[in-house]
Amino acid sequence: MNWIQSKDGSYTAYSAQYDEHYHSTKDGALNESLKKHVEPAFALHCDKEHLKIIDICFGLGLNTLATLYYRDTYFPNMTLEIYSPELDGELVASLVDFPYPEIFEPYRNVIADLAASGEHEDDRTRITVEITDARVAMRELAGVWNVCYQDAFSPSSNPALWTREYFADIARLMRDEGIVTTYSTALATRLALYENGFNIYLNQGEGYRSATVASVRELEDFEKVDMEHKIRCNLNIMSLRDVNQLK
Ligand SMILES: C[S@@+](CC[C@H](N)C(=O)[O-])C[C@H]1O[C@@H](n2cnc3c(N)ncnc32)[C@H](O)[C@@H]1O
Repeated sequence: MNWIQSKDGSYTAYSAQYDEHYHSTKDGALNESLKKHVEPAFALHCDKEHLKIIDICFGLGLNTLATLYYRDTYFPNMTLEIYSPELDGELVASLVDFPYPEIFEPYRNVIADLAASGEHEDDRTRITVEITDARVAMRELAGVWNVCYQDAFSPSSNPALWTREYFADIARLMRDEGIVTTYSTALATRLALYENGFNIYLNQGEGYRSATVASVRELEDFEKVDMEHKIRCNLNIMSLRDVNQLK
């Protein structure tokens, strides 16, 4: 595993298979995780006593660990349930040696549990990392979830995790109150979410490139993207479809 220091000092890795970094080296791995996923998730669900998050895909575990850090810092009474599918079992097993940021030091035992068995449970937290294909997992997962961190490799290198049909499974799990957070601002990604009943919002701020929040319910604190206008201006735009991924 090739560890690489990103702009905020935190480490990420490079995947030769996908020819991509696990996080934006320019935004910073930890910064990206907090700004594009964790902060919007808590901002939009700050009233919850129990938060249920799907973390697509576990990778180096930064999104899950940043979620624990954020909960413990700002919402210590909130209980958390995190489900995270990940194809690469060897990667998860190796994470005990990963150079995490200092703020994750209290979670050494969590990382050890997840690396050893894929499970961690304490009085405020339940985490399951399942070594499986996220497509299959999303088809089979039950229940109502509050947040989906959509953090697969990019649509061009891992298209199966960005199709209209894939987001139909996510929409079923999010129901009326759930949100999807993603770094992707591609119109095709946003369209796939929009076609599944999500409103599309811009997540922008200082120190990171713009990202997307998708929500079935209307949001007040994020700028709404006028999808009908975007579609009129891009008449050939299409969401990714499963059928086009068949070899
Ligand atoms: C961008 S990285 C995820 C980074 C992660 N969220 C983090 O915070 O460290 C993408 C991950 O997707 C995994 N992956 C690729 N295809 C997958 C699939 N079909 N199902 C589950 N995981 C997959 C890769 O092994 C890789 O670990």
